[in-house]
Amino acid sequence: MKGLILSGGKGTRLYPITYTSAKQLVPVANKPVLFRVIEAIRDAGIEEIGIVVGDTAAEVKKAVGSGTRWGAKITYIRQEAPLGLAHAVKISADFLGVDRFVMFLGDNVIQGGISSLIREFENNDWNSQIVLTRVAHPEQYGVAEMDADGNIIRLIEKPKEPPSDLALVGIYMFDHHIMEAVNSIKPSWRGELEITDAIQWLIDHGYRVRPYIHTGWWIDTGAPGDLLDANGLVLEELTPRIEGYVDRGSQVDGRVTAERGAEIINSVVRGPTIIGQDTRIVNSYVGPFTSIYHHVLIENSEIEHSIVMENSKIVDVPVRIEGSVIGRNVEITKSPLKPRAYKLTLGDNSKVGLVVNGG
Ligand code: DAU
Repeated sequence: MKGLILSGGKGTRLYPITYTSAKQLVPVANKPVLFRVIEAIRDAGIEEIGIVVGDTAAEVKKAVGSGTRWGAKITYIRQEAPLGLAHAVKISADFLGVDRFVMFLGDNVIQGGISSLIREFENNDWNSQIVLTRVAHPEQYGVAEMDADGNIIRLIEKPKEPPSDLALVGIYMFDHHIMEAVNSIKPSWRGELEITDAIQWLIDHGYRVRPYIHTGWWIDTGAPGDLLDANGLVLEELTPRIEGYVDRGSQVDGRVTAERGAEIINSVVRGPTIIGQDTRIVNSYVGPFTSIYHHVLIENSEIEHSIVMENSKIVDVPVRIEGSVIGRNVEITKSPLKPRAYKLTLGDNSKVGLVVNGG
């Protein structure tokens, strides 16, 4: 089997975090989501992986490279515009050949990996296997309508009135018949070649599409709130390790990971939390469900339930920061200048909740 990861498209919903960079490279528990996807595929025994890339191709290639780091062979497939998930399959025809493959959206994180799913698909003669899970807001996803025997009758992309709460998780398995499907369907109302329409084509033409209902957690990291949820869930599953330095004046509990070169000085760190390589936490409090990536400085400040990306600085901030996603190379400090005022340089569509005295 082969793997096909979709890492094109535009990260509009994660602006400004992904204003200039790929949303698939946003770190969750200090590892880009895309790396987690590559590992899940590799752990299922698949070494030949194609990655569909778009405008952010250069950045994705720089971060991932040839794949040798994961014992995988990676082929990049250029998609000129985000014309749909089925379009991504269509342009991957040369890479896929007649092999069976798993397609995995590059911004999805799933509990428990995909090894057992891949094994089941390999051991059966289904033409496709799709992964479904129950969600609170099915209208935001592709949704499946099932019959009383648990067979799929219909798949609809982001329906206004969902026929069920079973959403399509961004993991799909196909044999070569999907090529005929993606070549037969027409673009949807939003101008995309939808994978849901291609799977519907398979069903309508008598091919066997097997639904698998996933019961663990699954997160599409497309929105900042979902990103923090994914971060918390992955942090809870990390095996803690202290590879950095913790001084005697600090209190660090058993669920904290400190990566190589990290320094925790005169601070309190409560897990589950990860402190990245060469990051310094000085005279500060870092609370649960927080991921601080590499080369960050947190000094005389408090933060919890947040993600801080690489090379950022949070120094002398008088109010606790929580529920925040802080991008790369960001500086948050107390201004020494009078009059006392907030001095902000924020990207487009930033959200900041300011604490105002007395109100
Ligand atoms: O997350 C699950 C959902 O993913 C499914 O329930 C939907 O049926 C499916 O259509 C998809 O919906 P999204 O609206 O979340 O897809 P999005 O546009 O965010 O794209 C998903 C990933 O695929 C993302 O990493 C970007 C990449 N992509 C997307 C398109 C449209 C491509 O590489 N090429 C594309 O043309």
